[in-house]
Amino acid sequence: MDKKLGLKDIVLIGRTFDEYYRMFELSNINFKDEKILDVASGVSSFCSEANSKGYNVTASDKIYSFSAEKIEEKCAEDLKMVMEKLPSVADLYKWEFFENVDALKKNRERAYRLFVEDFKKMNGNRYIATEYPRTQFADKEFTISLISHFLFMYDEHLNYEFHKKTISEIIRITSKEIRIFPIVNLKGKRSLFVEKLMGDRDFKDYEIGIKKVDYEFVKNGNEMLSIKVN
Ligand SMILES: C[S@@+](CC[C@H](N)C(=O)[O-])C[C@H]1O[C@@H](n2cnc3c(N)ncnc32)[C@H](O)[C@@H]1O
Repeated sequence: MDKKLGLKDIVLIGRTFDEYYRMFELSNINFKDEKILDVASGVSSFCSEANSKGYNVTASDKIYSFSAEKIEEKCAEDLKMVMEKLPSVADLYKWEFFENVDALKKNRERAYRLFVEDFKKMNGNRYIATEYPRTQFADKEFTISLISHFLFMYDEHLNYEFHKKTISEIIRITSKEIRIFPIVNLKGKRSLFVEKLMGDRDFKDYEIGIKKVDYEFVKNGNEMLSIKVN
């Protein structure tokens, strides 16, 4: 049987601005021209850190209808559970960006603490409770949408129909580009939904491409999918 980080559910774990910057190759965008949506942003600190730098980022996740305390409680539990499972599957990961499990844990804790602080401060703004595939955003409200560790990664939890509906909705609310990272699933294999989506006639009007990026934590997870919608 394939080795994988077996998860019963989609976990509440968050990444930092530095990780997003490399996963999505954000060095090639001019932040001041963009209104960015972070899709299924969870307890990532990307939104908080980006706004502190003066960038325009909105976060969206189904958990934002809960209180900061509840979110923090669930996130601390998930982090503990993932950290306990990790040593048995450590060889699925490349220990460079994070030197070891302890460095990873510290980074994830930093991410969720920054998130919680900003979430409390913003009090309902900037963090929009959204349960994909449906959203309440206006047509082309954002210029760029980023999807990290949600689609493709959880292809055993979310079926192809869900992927398709979610991407169609994000195309509706995005004017320039959608970037998805990673395109491997929890087994570290490229999700079969990637090829399926690229060949799907319903998306034939969009330029869809795969790009190698300078970030690899899950081994072979160093590619993002770009969907140009303009
Ligand atoms: C692994 S986390 C990724 C968080 C963040 N994007 C990152 O990379 O740091 C997955 C997130 O997907 C969210 N999620 C799962 N199903 C969702 C849905 N249908 N609509 C919105 N968010 C969802 C979870 O609440 C969780 O925060």
